[in-house]
Amino acid sequence: MRYFCFRELAEMKIKIVKADERHRKDINRLIREANIGDGIEGPVKNFWLAKLDDKIVGCAGLNFVGNKSAIFTHLVVEREYRHRGIGSALIVYRKRIAKEHDTDTLALITMYYHFNFYKRRGFKVVKRADLPNHLKNYWMFTAERYKKCAVLLQSI
Ligand SMILES: CC(C)(COP(=O)(O)OP(=O)(O)OC[C@H]1O[C@@H](n2cnc3c(N)ncnc32)[C@H](O)[C@@H]1OP(=O)(O)O)[C@@H](O)C(=O)NCCC(=O)NCCS
Repeated sequence: MRYFCFRELAEMKIKIVKADERHRKDINRLIREANIGDGIEGPVKNFWLAKLDDKIVGCAGLNFVGNKSAIFTHLVVEREYRHRGIGSALIVYRKRIAKEHDTDTLALITMYYHFNFYKRRGFKVVKRADLPNHLKNYWMFTAERYKKCAVLLQSI
């Protein structure tokens, strides 16, 4: 099975592995506990897990949309495992996957208190009105639930 380790994460025995249907319940638990959604709909596709031995401590998704764009979704690290680089590793990992798919633009939606976290990782806040047309109508960017959030973009 393909997996990815930063040296520091390897020392913690954290691995990033691809998720499948067997992990839906764990992913939904992480998403609900972090209060960032109700869970994932549709097939478990393009989703990754951060695992410490057999314990799932984080997750993150990637949706490919339109012409060479990908959306980062559902980044969660369990509270007790935060501030160890796991969230950053899930960002770097998905960026690498996106590049492998010839993606040139990454986008995500998040609350203001994460803006600096993402800015430090290369993203910029963009007004919804200024988004490229194929991203303007992406469901997360128009959803009532996320209306207080902002969209961030990064060219890769
Ligand atoms: C956002 C979230 C995923 C970040 O996960 P995380 O694993 O804590 O992320 P990281 O550890 O990579 O980075 C967090 C901070 O810890 C710091 N950090 C990383 N490794 C560290 C270490 N070994 N020692 C001390 N600090 C460390 C990082 O530098 C970072 O701060 P910075 O932005 O100033 O650089 C996590 O807070 C979370 O799950 N939040 C709830 C869900 C949510 O809101 N998701 C975002 C949806 S868009």
